[in-house]
Amino acid sequence: MSKSTQIPVTDIILNEDNPRQMSEDKFPRLIESLLVFPKMLKTRPMVLDENGVVLGGNMRTRALLWIKDATLQQLKERLEAQSKYKNMTEYEQKQLIEFWQSWQARPKVYVTYAEGYTEEEKREFVIKDNTSFGDWDWNELANNWEPMELEEWGLDCWQPDKVAEGGDNDGSTGSSSEAGKHGSLSDKFIAPPFTILDTRQGYWRQRKAMWRERIADFGESREGTLADGETNCMATINNGVSLLDPVMAEIVCRWFGIEGGTAFDCFAGDTVFGYVAATLGMSFTGIELREEQATLNNERVEGMCARYICDDGQNVGKHIAAGSQDLLFSCPPYYDLEVYSDKPNDASNQPTYEAFLDILENAFANAIDCLKQNRFAVIVVGDIRDKEGYYYDFVGDIKRMFKAHGMPLYNECIIVEPIGTLPQRVQRYMRNRKVGKCHQNVLVFYKGDIKAIPTTYNEITYASEDLAAFGMDNNDTAE
Ligand SMILES: C[S@@+](CC[C@H](N)C(=O)[O-])C[C@H]1O[C@@H](n2cnc3c(N)ncnc32)[C@H](O)[C@@H]1O
Repeated sequence: MSKSTQIPVTDIILNEDNPRQMSEDKFPRLIESLLVFPKMLKTRPMVLDENGVVLGGNMRTRALLWIKDATLQQLKERLEAQSKYKNMTEYEQKQLIEFWQSWQARPKVYVTYAEGYTEEEKREFVIKDNTSFGDWDWNELANNWEPMELEEWGLDCWQPDKVAEGGDNDGSTGSSSEAGKHGSLSDKFIAPPFTILDTRQGYWRQRKAMWRERIADFGESREGTLADGETNCMATINNGVSLLDPVMAEIVCRWFGIEGGTAFDCFAGDTVFGYVAATLGMSFTGIELREEQATLNNERVEGMCARYICDDGQNVGKHIAAGSQDLLFSCPPYYDLEVYSDKPNDASNQPTYEAFLDILENAFANAIDCLKQNRFAVIVVGDIRDKEGYYYDFVGDIKRMFKAHGMPLYNECIIVEPIGTLPQRVQRYMRNRKVGKCHQNVLVFYKGDIKAIPTTYNEITYASEDLAAFGMDNNDTAE
């Protein structure tokens, strides 16, 4: 192959036989991608045959032809769509625009010639230039690359949702035309209703950012309670405390709650669940031991159908009538992982794991009495290690506890958390061969007759369409 040289883009002959297509929505992405990174055009020239017909770079040539004729306004619009451009200084932006304006005056591109190729070899090149035998390591990408950047760079990231969009394959969406009208499973159910719930996905992050902005609970009342680096309640860390993920709360309400019904939590903690439940039309009661937290929560939900009572969750039956509730949600303390107070009946402040479990069992047994028949309880838990380093099997203990009080396990989902600082911490953990934990368990228990579920619970309608009703726009950018 010869060295690259520069020729006018208009001298390149587009390859009409190129079987590679690009969808209408992807073409602007390619233009943007070239505009923000012109250096790469030099390093990766177009490949032409001896007649000037493109063998490699057909789409890029098309994009450059568009750029050649673009107005200044059009160039700016395309650039504005890229976060790389938005993050540049004004000076850098100006330089980039000037680069393209001067390029438009003399629109030359780097090309290299495939010399001595037979017609057969040219055909082979066209295909091989576009194929790849490698596979993306999606975990590596999710952990160490920015999803928004990857999307902007043309990588179709979030594969699970793509799989989910092919609803006919797993039979879990309605007709394909319905799926086409409304989009993917995540449009309908917020997240695909699989046993893995992945908070790292774009749809999840976007929705979380919207809720966070609305709720504005930054865990101020519990600063510094969380053990170093750990997470609790599939939470994100804010001010050193764990906060419930609002998208998780929304999923619990929509999948297992009853619109217009009642919901409660006997270890309420922050405002998130109550706020989300009330926004979705439920009437919520939270029992929380710490006065300052209950007071703050009540201020935050003022005017909404939510209230927080300061008491021991074991006394839930004093505040809520037996058989009156449609949904129990709780993310209880994970023993002493996050110690909330020095109160003797604080579940996180018990001398032994067994004493901690006793408080949970008392509270949950009473809470189960408050539930109506044919209703769900959703408990978010994560296992914790004892002083020696063994897991307690906290998740198993909760399952046994609920079963013993008449609520067997009906679903179990693993919620995959943002990786955060785990890659750094895991280096330390692995000295003891401890694998970095980046999930929590969402346990769904059921009380009653499971045959009653389809008549008790309405079909789930398209959740994404409700966002406008909350004054939220699903097209907002992610956090
Ligand atoms: C894990 S948090 C609740 C979940 C919430 N997402 C959070 O992280 O704040 C547990 C909450 O239970 C409260 N708590 C501890 N013992 C309690 C008890 N006996 N009765 C009621 N609440 C209790 C703590 O004060 C804390 O706010």
